[in-house]
Amino acid sequence: MRLLILFIIANAALFLFGCGEEKAPEMAAVPAPEDNIFTNREWSVIQRLSPLPEAPPPSPTNRVADNLNAAQLGQMFFFDTRFSKDGTVACATCHSPFHGFADVEATSLGAGRGTRNAPTLLNVAYNQWQFWDGRADTLWSQALAALEGEIEQAGTRLQYAHLVHQYYAADYETVFGALPELEDTARFPTDGKPGDVAFDRMSEADQHAVNTVFANIGKAIEAYERLLISRNAPFDRFVAGDTEAISPEAKRGLKTFIGKGVCILCHDTPTFTDNEFHNLGVPQGPLPEDAGRYAGISLLLSDPFNGGGVYSDDTAVATRILNFLEPIPRHQGEFKTPTLRNVALTAPYFHTGEFPTLESVIEFNNLGGTGGNFVGQRERTLEPLQLSEQEKTDLVEFLETLTGESPPTHLLIKPNLP
Ligand code: HEC
Ligand code: HEC
Repeated sequence: MRLLILFIIANAALFLFGCGEEKAPEMAAVPAPEDNIFTNREWSVIQRLSPLPEAPPPSPTNRVADNLNAAQLGQMFFFDTRFSKDGTVACATCHSPFHGFADVEATSLGAGRGTRNAPTLLNVAYNQWQFWDGRADTLWSQALAALEGEIEQAGTRLQYAHLVHQYYAADYETVFGALPELEDTARFPTDGKPGDVAFDRMSEADQHAVNTVFANIGKAIEAYERLLISRNAPFDRFVAGDTEAISPEAKRGLKTFIGKGVCILCHDTPTFTDNEFHNLGVPQGPLPEDAGRYAGISLLLSDPFNGGGVYSDDTAVATRILNFLEPIPRHQGEFKTPTLRNVALTAPYFHTGEFPTLESVIEFNNLGGTGGNFVGQRERTLEPLQLSEQEKTDLVEFLETLTGESPPTHLLIKPNLP
């Protein structure tokens, strides 16, 4: 009796002072399906994973992020191989619409051979960080890194500004306003980037003008990437109430995913990533040492195109976040938790691309790592999982229910290039 009174008083206090709201709800908003597979508590965890929010988070550093004219222009840049050093590589070379906007190769071949696996671009606009090491804090600055990256497109910003002037001037000016006087090749040489004599000799104002065109190319590409959303996977239909949308094996796999497999510790949002970086001890195999996030932080902070820089359209939030970042040794060997949506389409896996199948990834997790050559310390909480053969195949079955509907096809048709 006394306990009951205390309980009532405590609840009244919580009610009065409003601190009861933070309590995790015991009961889910929508009740669990009546097939006795999931408890109500499990069901409320599952509901955190679906649906994908209607729109990706806003991108204040890019004022044209949601402008459709910009997206159309960005789509053309995405498929245009002229935007590369030798005219043979485009974004789509490694992010193929036919393979979930990822690459079937372990490491991609562009202007050179890289040392990391190309991630999917589906739902990429929901990411807080770009690249496995998070060295870009916006999609538009990520695109610039690819356009000039030695292993990707390896061209130069002056080359790209001239391509825009030659082939896309009208569409560009509709979105971004007047181009600089690029026909004057004495002022604006046809090729070059910082570090090249041709670029370094230009006046500061002209360099700034070219950097602005370069940044705008990235902003148009981001506007296109923001439309690459894939939703309504069988898993989403299941959570929305269609109990038949996924198989009994997949349901058991889901139970393992949020339970014994502890996958939910990191893959815990509707995009199935915590937007954080972890060291799973994935071996580098034949690839060179990779410090991951540790090196990524320094690269991000020194990037003139980061969200806090002069080419950003709103530096306030980005600067606050950047100020928090520090390359401390704990980040050695950490990589970004990737999305698991559409993961069945995007083999091979992990940042190295050395794991050919979902089975091999799960076996790696099950063993609690396999040793081998990796940088830094494996996260201490990761222990062998003791999963049975059945639990492993169920997990794969579940991951296969995360393949969503592709973005509308008109966005995927290779446009007729001028
Ligand atoms: C030569 C192959 C290649 C080309 C060309 C290429 N990429 Fe990538 N892309 C990759 C690889 C590999 C990664 C991962 C690299 C890393 O993390 O260091 C990546 C990462 C990304 C990411 C980060 C995704 C994430 O989840 O972290 C985005 C976004 C992206 N690329 C978009 C583009 C765009 C836009 C273009 C064209 C301007 C482009 N890529 C050109 C191979 C390529
Ligand atoms: C401690 C956080 C953490 C836990 C727990 C975790 N993951 Fe991951 N997952 C990651 C990170 C980080 C990566 C990328 C690692 C890398 O490439 O170095 C990853 C990669 C993956 C990939 C490869 C995706 C791709 O595109 O390459 C799959 C599949 C995956 N995880 C599934 C699972 C499953 C299933 C479980 C549970 C059995 C699980 N993860 C548990 C953090 C985690």
